[in-house]
Amino acid sequence: MENDFGKALRQTAELIDKELAELIPENNGPEKQLYEAMRYAALAGGKRLRAFLVIQSADLFSVPRIHSTRVAAAIELVHCYSLIHDDLPCMDDDDLRRGLPTVHKKFDEATAVLSGDALQSLAFEILSDPLTHPSPEVRVSLVSCLSHAIGLRGMVGGQTMDIYANSKDIDIQTITRLQQLKTGALISFACEAGAILGHASPPQRHALKAYTHDLGLAFQIADDILDIEGSAEEMGKATQKDTDAGKATFVSLMGLEDAKIHASMLADQAVTHLDIFGPKADLLRHAAAFTIERRI
Ligand code: IPE
Ligand code: IPE
Ligand code: MG
Ligand code: MG
Ligand code: MG
Repeated sequence: MENDFGKALRQTAELIDKELAELIPENNGPEKQLYEAMRYAALAGGKRLRAFLVIQSADLFSVPRIHSTRVAAAIELVHCYSLIHDDLPCMDDDDLRRGLPTVHKKFDEATAVLSGDALQSLAFEILSDPLTHPSPEVRVSLVSCLSHAIGLRGMVGGQTMDIYANSKDIDIQTITRLQQLKTGALISFACEAGAILGHASPPQRHALKAYTHDLGLAFQIADDILDIEGSAEEMGKATQKDTDAGKATFVSLMGLEDAKIHASMLADQAVTHLDIFGPKADLLRHAAAFTIERRI
């Protein structure tokens, strides 16, 4: 039976699908293929966990959903862009994503690169739009934090390490940094965005940052475990890719069992940072458990 968390995550996905369908309209002009590829990638499902984190963290401060939903849509656009590029032949070279052919397979590589680019810039357009928040300070803060999270000191830096790191000479400290950058930084932005929208106090911000610091890492370790133990049918993407590609992961470094223990320890630790919010943060607590228990 669906629990409160499952229901809230499903409702987030429905909300985000609707929002994204409006933000990327159909187009029959000469750039039709770009629009089609963007809609194909953005509307193909996905857990929408990052959107969920934005909305739930903003809910802690009673931020009107009209604001948090747009920020949640923007973060999912960035995430979709990152997946399109991550799947390219020059990166992970994957043919399947969310149960469908990857964008470069369905369309072509140029369209995959361009649609990723356009999804990213659309995200910033949304964040800087007064419809997202009436306060220019809030909008600038959202733009500044997202650009930091996904650039050279965040996701793209981490993706670079992921591609060029030699799994033989990487240590725990380096893999931790790699994963925090490639995956953790965007997940951290999700709750940071909620804090920005909600004018959170410094201790509240700090608590959310600490929560996502552990959650983001646990999330990527779980992804690496699922690459070995998961089912391609359930996850909608190929498995057994990391070992074949010689990727450095927590699993390659620690072994499967210790990686599971580490992920579980991080998820438990993540929850302890939420004490300051009391029962209002129960769905975020559940998100930590979901992160490591998920099969998708
Ligand atoms: C996959 O992210 C890429 C990683 C950062 C591990 P998700 O597992 O959140 O993918 P979707 O959005 O649910 O498809
Ligand atoms: C992807 O990590 C991280 C980003 C897209 C930034 P992975 O390469 O492990 O993600 P999957 O397994 O392809 O979803
Ligand atoms: Mg990758
Ligand atoms: Mg990949
Ligand atoms: Mg993976």
